[in-house]
Amino acid sequence: MALAGKNIVIAVCGSIAAYKIASLIRLLVKAEAQVNVIMSQEATAFITPLTLSTLSKNPVLIDYYQPNTGEWNNHVEIALKADYILVAPATANTIAKMANGLCDNLLTAVYLSAKCPVLFAPAMDLDMWKHPSTQANISKLYSYGNILIPPGNGELASGLVGEGRLAEPEEILDFLVKFSTKELPLYGKRALVSAGPTYEAIDPVRFIGNHSSGKMGYAIARQLEILGADVTLVSGPSSLKAPDRVHTISVTSAAEMLNACETYFEDADIVVMSAAVADYTPVEVAAQKIKKKENEFSIQLKKTTDILATLGTKKREKQLLIGFALETNNELENAKDKLIRKNLDFIVLNSMQDKGAGFATDTNKVTIIDRSGNTNEFSLKSKEEVAKDICSIIVKLS
Ligand code: CTP
Repeated sequence: MALAGKNIVIAVCGSIAAYKIASLIRLLVKAEAQVNVIMSQEATAFITPLTLSTLSKNPVLIDYYQPNTGEWNNHVEIALKADYILVAPATANTIAKMANGLCDNLLTAVYLSAKCPVLFAPAMDLDMWKHPSTQANISKLYSYGNILIPPGNGELASGLVGEGRLAEPEEILDFLVKFSTKELPLYGKRALVSAGPTYEAIDPVRFIGNHSSGKMGYAIARQLEILGADVTLVSGPSSLKAPDRVHTISVTSAAEMLNACETYFEDADIVVMSAAVADYTPVEVAAQKIKKKENEFSIQLKKTTDILATLGTKKREKQLLIGFALETNNELENAKDKLIRKNLDFIVLNSMQDKGAGFATDTNKVTIIDRSGNTNEFSLKSKEEVAKDICSIIVKLS
């Protein structure tokens, strides 16, 4: 999610619409953002600081200093730590102050000290909104690079009907998510990730499979989405929950996985094949359950198509193609050979000799090898952390 870990300072002004900020804070906290609230003195008449500090899980600041202790609320520090400042509801009065550089309270001092993007969501009566001075102030805010979250049209607290309603909390959240997604390093990129095992049917009840859990591929898909990419995950049978906002396609066999990957490969900018695909599949699948009549029984297998190698032959210059290698011996040599043979940009090597690496564990220990032969050995980490290491290289190469 684009807002995860972001420090959002909400500056609440004195408007009846301040009550909507309680719901907005809940939505932002759910989206894993850090929320810090500043209120104008007037805002506290509409909603209590206790409500907003409880929901945001952070103290609410109102004055330049704490009245009880005399402790200074450093407006410069608050502003510089913020990823975004959201003025909501932004009243006609505060908009006028922002437009003209007035700073007679903590809220406007924080605004003036800000270097991060500032978004403002106005709330006022219809005629105040339309007034040429308000519109001129808003034009000034545009010229400073501030971003308007437009007010809605509808019934106003005064009883009049028209433009001036504070955007709904869901709309503000949506606006913030879209805004921050555009700032992400992989915004506009499409990614394709394969994950999990494949099951090759022997008969209607049996299959050949492997112990892959899908954890590594799912962590990569999630991380690419966090970095702003539009992600398609092609997953073999896995008990993991499909990551939020990732287009997940469930497949069973290697042939189905090949089919799905080929479909999405054409439009993909980034392709990460982390699935543990079966190398062999039964020549024939019995239509009925095989009975245990024979003392010895063998199944004839044929090679599956190597999905990664197939995509490697089709790769365009600007596409990034990344593969995995799980090795037990001659690790570096084998991985380098796969990198060249399958036409990859880099390969992620897991050695089965490393404790905590490989299948069905929560951790992994990888070495990343690029086309120039550079090797980068990482320590044992959680699969989420390994996914971050892999994706930071993808960001550099994108
Ligand atoms: N791979 C694939 N399709 C296959 C087999 C493997 O896409 N049919 C991909 C895997 O997703 C992984 C990489 O190829 O990214 C390496 O898989 P691995 O099993 O280690 O290597 P193989 O090429 O199959 O070689 P070998 O089994 O001989 O080591």
